[in-house]
Amino acid sequence: MTARIIDGKAFAAILRESVAEHVSQLKQTHGITPGLAVVLVGDDPASQVYVRSKGKQTIEVGMNSYEYKLPADTPESELLALIKQLNLDPSVHGILVQLPLPQHIDEALVINAIDPAKDVDGFHISNAGLLATGQQAMVPCTPLGCLMMLREYCGNLTGLNAVVIGRSNIVGKPMAQLLLRESCTVTVVHSRTRNLPDILRGADIVVAAVGRPLFVQGDWIKTGATVIDVGINRIDQGDGTTRLVGDVDYDAAKEVAGAITPVPGGVGPMTIACLLANTVTACCRAHSLPEPKGLAA
Ligand code: GUN
Repeated sequence: MTARIIDGKAFAAILRESVAEHVSQLKQTHGITPGLAVVLVGDDPASQVYVRSKGKQTIEVGMNSYEYKLPADTPESELLALIKQLNLDPSVHGILVQLPLPQHIDEALVINAIDPAKDVDGFHISNAGLLATGQQAMVPCTPLGCLMMLREYCGNLTGLNAVVIGRSNIVGKPMAQLLLRESCTVTVVHSRTRNLPDILRGADIVVAAVGRPLFVQGDWIKTGATVIDVGINRIDQGDGTTRLVGDVDYDAAKEVAGAITPVPGGVGPMTIACLLANTVTACCRAHSLPEPKGLAA
């Protein structure tokens, strides 16, 4: 069996088109332009690339982009003051503080200072709690993108065995909550789990977010399973060059799986598309307008 390749790049392009249509309708019908504020503290090169890409795509779908680039030694109090200002600004519907933050800043304090209604990352404790209790929440972008692709490729997820590898607040935990909401039987495994291959062999759905290159072996995958690889790891090829790989041994797994996301070009492009979708959702909620279908979880 050779797996169907889940084309995240194409999927994200379709989602962005849908976001752009909704943005256009919000402008025409209600005179509202959704706005996304992205805050970057410091000069981490990877974060700079992400933030640039977020700003570019925000503008491409017709939304307003507000970028705040602060020096690495910005005092925590100054960052908190900026967040307070953005919370109060009616033209800002979504706020994202790029992580990681410099050492001297308390990440949890900053995230929890964002108005939960504008927390388009879905990292605020209120949103985590709302999601865990099955209430309307802002859902973290990466798991939201994974869910959209799973729905497309598996259809109804009810009763399927889903194994999530990784227990981070950003991916593993919210992913497990979303799959529970879809009535999957969910197992969360991690680097300390015993008998991990045996657990995986019973999985109809595998979401790998463990952050270890090529960790999941092909013979751990059940025939026909759907495999979503969240990992993005750069490995040295030993000849002076590097390449990007996921958490799954893609070449082996694709011979067994029913469908699989490649790295790059799988989950990655969906994350920013879901950020744009979350901003439209937050904007509609802020204005008590009906939420566009297909953009939220
Ligand atoms: N750093 C890497 N990924 C993310 C993300 O999804 N959101 C934020 N805020 N920071 C990140």
